[in-house]
Amino acid sequence: MIRSRILGVGRYLPERRVTNLDLAKMFDTSDEWIRQRTGIVERRFADEGVYCSDLALEASREALKSAGMSAADLDFVIFATLSPDHHFPGNGCYLQPKLGISGIGCMDIRNQCSGFLYSLAVADAFVRIGMYRRILVVGAEVHSSGLSFTDEGRDVSVIFGDGAGAVIVGPSDDPARGILTNHLHADGAFADILRLEMFDISRKPCLTHEMLDRGSLWPKMKGKEVFRVAVTRIPEVIDEALKAVGLKVEDVDLFIPHQANLRINQFAAAKLGVPEEKFYSNIQQYGNTTAASLPIALSEALEQGLVKPGSLIMFVAFGAGFTWGASVIRW
Ligand code: ACO
Repeated sequence: MIRSRILGVGRYLPERRVTNLDLAKMFDTSDEWIRQRTGIVERRFADEGVYCSDLALEASREALKSAGMSAADLDFVIFATLSPDHHFPGNGCYLQPKLGISGIGCMDIRNQCSGFLYSLAVADAFVRIGMYRRILVVGAEVHSSGLSFTDEGRDVSVIFGDGAGAVIVGPSDDPARGILTNHLHADGAFADILRLEMFDISRKPCLTHEMLDRGSLWPKMKGKEVFRVAVTRIPEVIDEALKAVGLKVEDVDLFIPHQANLRINQFAAAKLGVPEEKFYSNIQQYGNTTAASLPIALSEALEQGLVKPGSLIMFVAFGAGFTWGASVIRW
């Protein structure tokens, strides 16, 4: 059986740092409130004029370099984002010419915080059936253009940051190494708990001044409900993924969880009886970068020597939809 593995990893974070204190100058919040509830200290914001596909380009270049490849070697692109350059076409189509290539297939996956995980599972399946051999999977977000920096929007706007991460997925030359299993879930009964209305396609036209006036441009979240379901689903899917490969939590060298909220990950680690340091964490510096958070974290963990050949790692994510999932990888 062909197994797929991650051949290269890259990340890109915009340079502009925005601290909690910077936010507290814009609306009624405090460093203490944000740190206590989310763990976030600062996040990065892209400058005016920068597209999501621009951040993705930088991360993709780094991933290609680390795989020892050029963009011309790619045979497919999967782009995960909730903040695409425009409503359509998909961001893969905006990224492709920036990479200097054309002709290969490009697909967007709109699964928010689980977007990268869903994309990785699709890439894995494409490689395993022999359809493609060099797939760029990129997660990128420019949240800072779509947040309400006001007292009304503060519960959401303190959480998110901009960034991009990318991996190259291809066949593994060692059947023992690579992506071992993927588990994807969703429960659309919670679709309205965390969403951005933006437009309503049942209305003609689908976007009106009245809708903009009542804030349809800004994401809305019932934070407590997100927290409550996340801390149940994350340990559950970790358990499910480990059972599928006949391993135990102790066998995992590093959990790489989506960086939604430090408290969610601490809660999940405690529930599983896993020491906190085995749950990778960088939300302090970047906030929640949604589809970009897993590949950014993987890229850092590799640099820090936390992931080595033979390490067993697990990606786990939970987000809007609700959607959630986990992947187990033998590095
Ligand atoms: N600064 C200061 N005060 C605030 C802020 C803020 N940024 N936001 C809300 N408050 C106030 C509220 O108005 C409320 O005031 P009140 O008591 O006078 O009414 C008070 O703080 C408490 O508000 P809650 O919403 O009850 O705060 P809670 O303790 O639930 O924390 C939080 C909010 C951090 C969002 C929490 O619910 C949470 O972490 N939920 C998980 C959400 C999450 O992780 N989302 C990201 C994942 S989503 C994804 O990845 C797609």
